[in-house]
Amino acid sequence: MNPETRTNWTTSLFTSDTWHPAPTPGNAGEAGGYFMVNDRTAQVAWMKPKRVDLNHAHAAKEKIAFDLSILCDINVPPVVLYHRENPPPGESPLACLSLVCYPKLYMWGDVFTLSSSNGGLLPHSQSSVEQALAAVSGTVAFDAWLGNDDRNNGNNALLGYETAGINPTGLGEFLFIDFSNTMTWSEPQAAFARLNVPPLFANALNQTRIKETITKIAAIDDAKIESIVNRIPDNYLQPTQKTRISAGLISRKARLLNDFSIWYPGTAPSV
Ligand SMILES: Nc1ncnc2c1ncn2[C@@H]1O[C@H](COP(=O)(O)OP(=O)(O)OP(=O)(O)O)[C@@H](O)[C@H]1O
Ligand SMILES: [Mg+2]
Repeated sequence: MNPETRTNWTTSLFTSDTWHPAPTPGNAGEAGGYFMVNDRTAQVAWMKPKRVDLNHAHAAKEKIAFDLSILCDINVPPVVLYHRENPPPGESPLACLSLVCYPKLYMWGDVFTLSSSNGGLLPHSQSSVEQALAAVSGTVAFDAWLGNDDRNNGNNALLGYETAGINPTGLGEFLFIDFSNTMTWSEPQAAFARLNVPPLFANALNQTRIKETITKIAAIDDAKIESIVNRIPDNYLQPTQKTRISAGLISRKARLLNDFSIWYPGTAPSV
């Protein structure tokens, strides 16, 4: 992913450009959404949610998750908030845009069989996919921090690669999307739950990478977390929800290393 684009998108809260629906809408999940094209740059992004769902605060959570991912080097496509002008009746104006980062992208459920420990792949393909998954091991620490148990889902990670100048040493880059069902704790001190991840990912996890990510998460300033959460406008995320989310993120980042073995047995990095 282009580091400059990531920086620009995390600096911005809202898009400053106009966008129009793409000719091919894409496959909407539960929240409803479709691809949009930037009128100025021709960049493509996924717009969500279409549906009104104030309790879920889809757009706010996607933006918070992306801004946090920058601080601990997790591969989340850039997200900005997007205010839909005159949405159709019953649809929400409070949306976000998630940038399409590669010309070629596959959902990970189309790359390997999520339920199978060898991914349903031939041995050589299996080891290539495992290497690309090992490189993004830190995502399990990030998901645990945010309370994201939505990863064992064929549509919630993408494998992206360039079509020109294909990297001869790598399969491509896994990117992680869909943070709508995260940060749902009622108490900041709530215990970590075990994460469900595809067995191929679980087997490929690299302990050193996980520990590096936990260390980066633990080092994030409390004030930085609060500023990321508090800059979301109140109509996207109610003030009481901001307080609840910040308190949980701050409490959980300090507990991640010790509690790792509880929420993901068998993968605890040695303290
Ligand atoms: N940055 C992106 N690049 C490419 N495709 C994307 C991107 N973001 C979303 N998509 C596509 O849109 C689909 C739906 O996105 P997403 O999973 O975020 O929404 P959802 O499943 O509707 O969310 P929710 O869990 O809130 O119902 C994805 O499965 C993927 O195909
Ligand atoms: Mg989804």
